[in-house]
Amino acid sequence: MPDPMPAAVRSGRLRALRQPTLPVDELLLRPWRLSDAHAVVGAYQNPDIRRWHVRSMEEHEVSAWLASWSRRWQEETGAGWAVTADDVLVGRVGFRRIDLGEGVAEIGYWTLPPARGRGVATRAARAVTAWMFTHVGLHRIELSHSAVNPASCRIAEKAGFAYEGTKRRQGLHQDGWHDMHFHARLAEDEEAGPVSTDR
Ligand SMILES: CC(C)(COP(=O)(O)OP(=O)(O)OC[C@H]1O[C@@H](n2cnc3c(N)ncnc32)[C@H](O)[C@@H]1OP(=O)(O)O)[C@@H](O)C(=O)NCCC(=O)NCCS
Repeated sequence: MPDPMPAAVRSGRLRALRQPTLPVDELLLRPWRLSDAHAVVGAYQNPDIRRWHVRSMEEHEVSAWLASWSRRWQEETGAGWAVTADDVLVGRVGFRRIDLGEGVAEIGYWTLPPARGRGVATRAARAVTAWMFTHVGLHRIELSHSAVNPASCRIAEKAGFAYEGTKRRQGLHQDGWHDMHFHARLAEDEEAGPVSTDR
């Protein structure tokens, strides 16, 4: 019987590392805290965030969501960071799926309205992607977004995630099925250019 393929990244690699706090210019990406509950519930009042992150986030759900990230780090299935500026929540970035065996993860993000348009999502995506490549040894990070969410497509482009194709009717949203754009960045891809932080 042939030997099974070895895992791309050995099990235990992620949980052996402490989840980092990553400074990026004026931003600080840090692990979620239970004290972020109020700000997260507020974020999900934003119609754009609700539209593209199809889940409810009521007071009774938020503590479990926040606590799930440390559990998922230990299980090596996901990772989430609060993106803050001056200790105020301005966004989130994270990996909704991590598969060490395959060496891949899938990234997601949102930014609160007052902080949009200054490269918050792009810089946060770049920072956690670079960390995953360098410290965990993943070889591919995927990013998908609805074909009618051009801002997310722009972030993918600016963060160096090449467009790979469209899956028709792949994403179920509140208004029905959406065609989804698929992008990915490989560990060996060249760095993308500087990100503008001007408004
Ligand atoms: C999409 C979102 C994450 C952008 O966050 P952000 O921190 O403002 O993103 P950045 O500043 O890094 O980049 C946004 C880019 O999209 C562009 N953009 C914004 N709205 C756009 C639109 N309607 N059409 C095309 N481009 C758009 C901006 O001009 C900017 O590109 P530029 O720097 O070349 O000008 C934020 O608007 C958001 O949270 N939206 C709701 C949730 C969401 O869509 N999440 C992603 C799901 S896949």
